Amino acid sequence: MTKFSDYMSEWLYGDDGYYATYKNIGKEGDFYTAVSTSKFFGGSVARHIISLVDEGFLARDGVICEIGAHHGYFLADVIEFIYTLRPKLLSSLKFVIIERFDELQEQQREYFEESFGDVINLTHYKSLDELRCKNAFFIANEIFDAFACELYYKGKTARVDGHNIEFDVYNKWVDAKAKKYNKDRGEIAIGYEEFALSMANSCDKFEFMSFDYGEMQARPDFSIRVYAKHKVIPFFDEEIKRDELFKKSDITYDVTFEHVKDAYADVGVEFVELKAQMVALVDMGILNLLEMLKENADEKIYEQELQKAKMLIMPNFLGERFKMIRFRKN
Ligand SMILES: C[S@@+](CC[C@H](N)C(=O)[O-])C[C@H]1O[C@@H](n2cnc3c(N)ncnc32)[C@H](O)[C@@H]1O
Repeated sequence: MTKFSDYMSEWLYGDDGYYATYKNIGKEGDFYTAVSTSKFFGGSVARHIISLVDEGFLARDGVICEIGAHHGYFLADVIEFIYTLRPKLLSSLKFVIIERFDELQEQQREYFEESFGDVINLTHYKSLDELRCKNAFFIANEIFDAFACELYYKGKTARVDGHNIEFDVYNKWVDAKAKKYNKDRGEIAIGYEEFALSMANSCDKFEFMSFDYGEMQARPDFSIRVYAKHKVIPFFDEEIKRDELFKKSDITYDVTFEHVKDAYADVGVEFVELKAQMVALVDMGILNLLEMLKENADEKIYEQELQKAKMLIMPNFLGERFKMIRFRKN
């Protein structure tokens, strides 16, 4: 019998685990992320970064660091828009990706070389523990829903036997978290506290912006599910074939943002806001960017990009239950 969190870690990050190898996330893959939907996602973040420089929060030679970059498309889109909006910053800012897998680091390096030649100063680290800097902007998309979790049901924590789930142990830490977040059943994420501490120790002054699917207070229910070829299979579906899906498909759950917030509060990092992704993107100026494109590109390209960007900001598709959470350490 193994802990569920070990089983989920093995599923996603073990040898041949789902995230350990370079796969298609996006149109041909198992799920869409906002990153694979439109470049204007990264573009809006680029605009925000420039505003941080202008307000004096981020130094011109500060670090821009993406965590869990997978293909590296998000950071590359950010860079492309900084080039369009404030090209001078590209030679002073330092770009970092935190990526634990060598194979993915290599693919990201190749993609950056193809896209930017040697113009960009890109450094990789395996973990935030290796980074030490004075001033940074951290960005992440859909990483908190990819942390391993424990499953909890009415006082008991799950273990796994083969691929069967049994709720048969008492785990004091999980039980305390479940009570704190008013869940009599559901997922309790493992590792947020350690992650927040690593980030707080890595940099003296920073802003961290992260996008994920979830709620401040989670529903007291299971949301854990598997994505395989654009199909969503609830983890407790009677028909589920876990042995066939193991390591070959994505497994995820709704983020309890209150848990993320508490992890950062515990290490002295200030919570700034939680808001709907569509509101965040509009606030950061996605519409101004589209307006710029309209003025400078031909109509066909503008229409294509507009349709893709709309998916990010329309309710009921990606826009509504996706949230942006933001923290600052001064
Ligand atoms: C759902 S994918 C998102 C990939 C990419 N950000 C995107 O939007 O397409 C989750 C990613 O988070 C990474 N990840 C999960 N936990 C992490 C951690 N503690 N530190 C760094 N990366 C992590 C995984 O390796 C994976 O690449």
